[in-house]
Formats: sequence, structure tokens, C-alpha cells
Amino acid sequence: MKKIMITGACGQIGSELVEKLRKEYGTDNVLATDIRKPTSSSGPFEVLDVMDAERMYELAKQFGADTLMHMAALLSATAEKNPVFAWNLNMGGLMNALETARKLDLQFFTPSSIGAFGPTTPKDNTPQDTLQRPTTMYGVNKVAGELLCDYYYTHFGVDTRGVRFPGLISNVTPPGGGTTDYAVDIYYKAVEEGHYTSYIAEGTYMDMMYMPDALQAIVDLMEADGEKLIHRNAFNITAMSFAPEHIAASIKRVMPTFTIDYDVDVARQTIAESWPNKIDDQAAKDEWQFQAQYDLDAMTADMLEKLRQKNIKHAS
Ligand SMILES: NC(=O)c1ccc[n+]([C@@H]2O[C@H](COP(=O)([O-])OP(=O)(O)OC[C@H]3O[C@@H](n4cnc5c(N)ncnc54)[C@H](O)[C@@H]3O)[C@@H](O)[C@H]2O)c1
Repeated sequence: MKKIMITGACGQIGSELVEKLRKEYGTDNVLATDIRKPTSSSGPFEVLDVMDAERMYELAKQFGADTLMHMAALLSATAEKNPVFAWNLNMGGLMNALETARKLDLQFFTPSSIGAFGPTTPKDNTPQDTLQRPTTMYGVNKVAGELLCDYYYTHFGVDTRGVRFPGLISNVTPPGGGTTDYAVDIYYKAVEEGHYTSYIAEGTYMDMMYMPDALQAIVDLMEADGEKLIHRNAFNITAMSFAPEHIAASIKRVMPTFTIDYDVDVARQTIAESWPNKIDDQAAKDEWQFQAQYDLDAMTADMLEKLRQKNIKHAS
């Protein structure tokens, strides 16, 4: 990776990924693009709608990119509200990005998700290679995307790579409408109000990861020796698995007065229940030495400290 172009760069992952890559590879070697303009810009930026295949190709060519990271997508909860739009954006955008990578011989990264699994997938220690019959449009898009990336590698030799991200938690950019967003909201509400009403029910386990580990995973996978990758795309990766009461207990260890109650949102709860409790990420560990640094309590300590530094006042 020497010249990297990113789509969806203003999103929850993209905004922090751009900063990390600029630090590691040089500001001018990372071209951020998004359909909306960034609130602040620390380097090269272009407005790009990923549905515009020609402009994507031209921008990558002019920039002299050797790597394309495709992050633009509609996330699980939002996609369910507008499935036809989600299909067109998630599949059309990915196809345009893969074609750009094929024509310009770019290394390619795009994330899949734990949303690529469904209710018939084994829920505990979900294997890397297993049954995938998701019941959401987002999941359908992610499975098709995983297969498409494999196809571009096997048929065209494009160096495609990817992970199945769990829910990602960060204190920089708000999440974009996923099912696991509660695990971000809870920290903000803890600091602002000392209380959180969870839309996900007690006892609902999902995999999660703190953003610094997610960003490092992208860099490590992209820098890994391609000869050693057996799976290439859609590696299961996880840092922790918890239910709402566990993240609440972790916050309580730092803020003993914190309280939680529940007002379950059926739409997002149904999605959450169709996903695994905990995935097995041994393939990522074996093939490119993936290792997360943050467990739940380490993440809680860092999240609360960073949010307090942002001067978000605890109301109680
Ligand atoms: N955040 C998570 O917890 C998580 C978990 C698993 C997988 N993922 C995947 O990671 C990728 C990035 O997710 P995110 O959380 O940063 O999403 P996000 O919703 O925060 O950001 C997506 C970005 O894409 C941009 N975008 C939307 N339509 C566009 C278009 N037509 N052209 C160009 N840009 C457009 C949006 O403006 C936004 O900045 C997605 O593929 C998502 O499925 C995210």
C-alpha cells in the first residue's frame, strides 16, 4: 500500500481510517472520497458517489492509486427500511469499486459483517466457513459481496481482502445505522445522563470490537503476505462478545451510579437475534496473526475517558 483511495471516507470507520493511514503512509498518499463533504479535512478529498463508475475509475487513475478501500454502504438497520435502495447501493457500489480495482490492478479491501450470518448459522463459536442464510437485505448484500470479492480474485487475479467486522465502537464519528449502535450510544448516555435505555434486550449476545483494533486489523490484513492467505475475504474477527447487561456492568465498575433499563425495538432486536452470539476468528489468527488489544473493561475505561475529555457533561 503506497497510494490509497477510500470510498465512504466520512463514515464511522472511514473517518478514523483516513487519519490512521495518513499518519502511516503520508497525508498526500491517502485520497478520501465520500458523497458528502467532510466537516474538517486534513488532506486530499474528492466528492464521489460510488454509483458513478466512471468518476471512481478516473479519480483512482488520476491519483495513481495502488490500493482501493471501499467503505461506502448502507448499514443493517437503515438498509431494512429501504431494501431496494440498499441493494442498488451496496451491490452497485461494490461492483463499480471491484471493476476499478480490476482495470487499474489495485489491491482491494472491503468489509463484510457478522450480518452475513443468519438464524440457521451455528450461534456459538461460529466457524469461518459455515452456513450463511441471512434474513436481512444487509446480510444478503454482504454474502453476495463476499462471493463477488472471491470471484474477482479467482477469475481476474484482483488482490481482494476483507474481514467480517463485528459491531464497532468508537468515540469519534457516530455510527451509521447499524444494529450494534447501542454499544456506542450507551457510553455517550452514561457520560451525559448517567442512564441508558437499551433498544436491545437483556441476554442478547453479539460480537464487538473497539475501533483502534478494527483499524489495525485492516492495515495488518492488507500488509499480510498474500501467499499465506487461504481465505482472503470475509475473515471472522472479534475482540469480545457481550449482552447489554455486561457493558452496563463494565460502565458501573467505573461509574457506580450508572443505571440501565430496556425498551426493546422489535426491528433491531429481530436482526440481533438472527446473528451469532460469538464468532470463531482462528483463521484470521492463523493466516495473518490477527490479535485484538482491547477487552470490554479496557474499552470502557478508554471510551469514558475520551468522552469526558470532549467535555460531555454527566448530568446527574
Ligand atoms: N460500523 C460497524 O459497526 C460495521 C460493522 C460491520 C461492517 N461494517 C461495514 O464497514 C463499512 C463502513 O461502515 P461505516 O460504519 O463506516 O458506515 P457509515 O454509515 O458510518 O459510513 C458510510 C459512508 O458512506 C457514505 N456514502 C453513502 N452513500 C454513498 C454513495 N452513494 N457514494 C459515496 N459514499 C456514500 C456516507 O456518506 C458515509 O460517510 C460498510 O461496508 C459496513 O457494512 C461496519
